[in-house]
Amino acid sequence: MSATPQLLAISDLHVGHEENRPIVEGLRPNHPGDWLIVGGDVAETAADIEWALTLLASRFDQVVWVPGNHELWTTPRDTLKLRGVERYEHLVQMCRRLGVLTPEDPFAVWSGEGGPVRIAPLFTLYDYTFRIPGVNSKEESLAAAYEAGIVCTDEHMLHPDPYPSIDAWCHARIAATERRLAECDPAVPLVMVNHWPLVRQPTLVLRYPVFAQWCGTVLTADWHVRFNTAVSVYGHLHIPRPTVYDGVPFEEVSLGYPREWKPRGLPEPLLRPVLRRVRVAP
Ligand SMILES: [Fe+2]
Ligand SMILES: [Fe+2]
Repeated sequence: MSATPQLLAISDLHVGHEENRPIVEGLRPNHPGDWLIVGGDVAETAADIEWALTLLASRFDQVVWVPGNHELWTTPRDTLKLRGVERYEHLVQMCRRLGVLTPEDPFAVWSGEGGPVRIAPLFTLYDYTFRIPGVNSKEESLAAAYEAGIVCTDEHMLHPDPYPSIDAWCHARIAATERRLAECDPAVPLVMVNHWPLVRQPTLVLRYPVFAQWCGTVLTADWHVRFNTAVSVYGHLHIPRPTVYDGVPFEEVSLGYPREWKPRGLPEPLLRPVLRRVRVAP
């Protein structure tokens, strides 16, 4: 039990994997006032997502969720058949029922340890612009991935309806999100929460560099310096670690798949206090 409430974060719970469920069942606050950021990839089916968010919302003072790519998959085994924007909006409604904050809600202010900070849950997707050297278009980038045999399942499961493409959906989200961030009082630092990293650097350590095209967009590359950012929280890469870019702390807070956490051990601590580090001059 900690003496004061903390702002904690975790992502990529992937509770469709049976061995991840007891880990989620074991997630408890250290203080009754703790808030929990859930950075996407809770699960693929609506039932699994609701199970995990219901449990966490019952335990933490406030839960903040952003969608990952897995929540947006429309899979044959899911009774929820909605695709794209309709699927996302359905999940937002589920969160509202549970009292969980989403990118569609007013940004909440955390006033506990490390605060005041404004928590900005974001949903920006990706647009295939994290490309390998020598590749200059989305088409070339996808072709290189198919050639290498490294293709994200999103290509088959993540439908952008009614947008013509995931990159078109991404660009609409970017425009709307930039407007909201610009409206925030710059005197209160932001906790930027996004499933995909806002900058490309974290993807440079991927085992398969061609996979980076499903991991973000160059359009968010300066958000952590353009907007007053206390910390940038993300997941998706399943490479949990703290880093610093341009003096701004970044936290990759994923749990990941059992095949990943078993050999390396669970992240320590599993629930990351994200306001421990302070911004330094670059
Ligand atoms: Fe994930
Ligand atoms: Fe992901």
